[in-house]
Amino acid sequence: MQLNESYWTKRYLNGETGWDIGYAAPAIIRYFEGIDDKDVHILIPGGGNSYEAQVLFEKGFKNVEVLDLSKKPLENLKARCPEFPDENLLHSDFFEHEGSYDYIVEQTFFCALPIKLRPIYVRKMSQLIKEGGKLVGLLFNIPLNQDQPPFGGHKSDYEPLFQTCFDIQHMKISSNSIPQRLGNELFIEMSPLKV
Ligand SMILES: C[S@@+](CC[C@H](N)C(=O)[O-])C[C@H]1O[C@@H](n2cnc3c(N)ncnc32)[C@H](O)[C@@H]1O
Repeated sequence: MQLNESYWTKRYLNGETGWDIGYAAPAIIRYFEGIDDKDVHILIPGGGNSYEAQVLFEKGFKNVEVLDLSKKPLENLKARCPEFPDENLLHSDFFEHEGSYDYIVEQTFFCALPIKLRPIYVRKMSQLIKEGGKLVGLLFNIPLNQDQPPFGGHKSDYEPLFQTCFDIQHMKISSNSIPQRLGNELFIEMSPLKV
């Protein structure tokens, strides 16, 4: 199975979007409510419909970029929030993206990628985040699928993987997950290792 643009766009067009919770994940929004500097640069890769981007933008974070391989969810975000800047909607491949961010948000993007890409994801994330910046968000802490996304895992799988490029500050069961995911996801906060 090719997890390419056409695969993801078909899922959006067919409404096969079981991952989409329909609103901003409270754990992610709570985290950013603790950040006073509204000028920080935030990237949400594999952001999909990205309700988080909309809420953060409406809370005054003006430098929020959403990146997705599929154009459809970016159009959906623009339709919901016409004020969201076009130049912050990036229709491209995460692995080819260049930039420098204070925060990158993870929310069901990691689990959507083929497992063999995980080390490349980790390295790419660490390259895109400024020194002292953070990767924050949620990772599933359950086995999930072997043959199609979502691909799951456990803290014991993620820790050695992320430690290759990150100093992990938090990787704990999230206390404010949505009810359907309560107990099954980890909140993560980590900074790239200094080189
Ligand atoms: C499971 S969905 C998650 C969407 C969103 N984060 C959410 O939680 O609703 C995975 C998303 O990643 C996007 N995606 C997959 N591979 C990608 C890549 N290499 N670069 C950018 N986006 C990608 C898909 O188009 C899809 O929107």
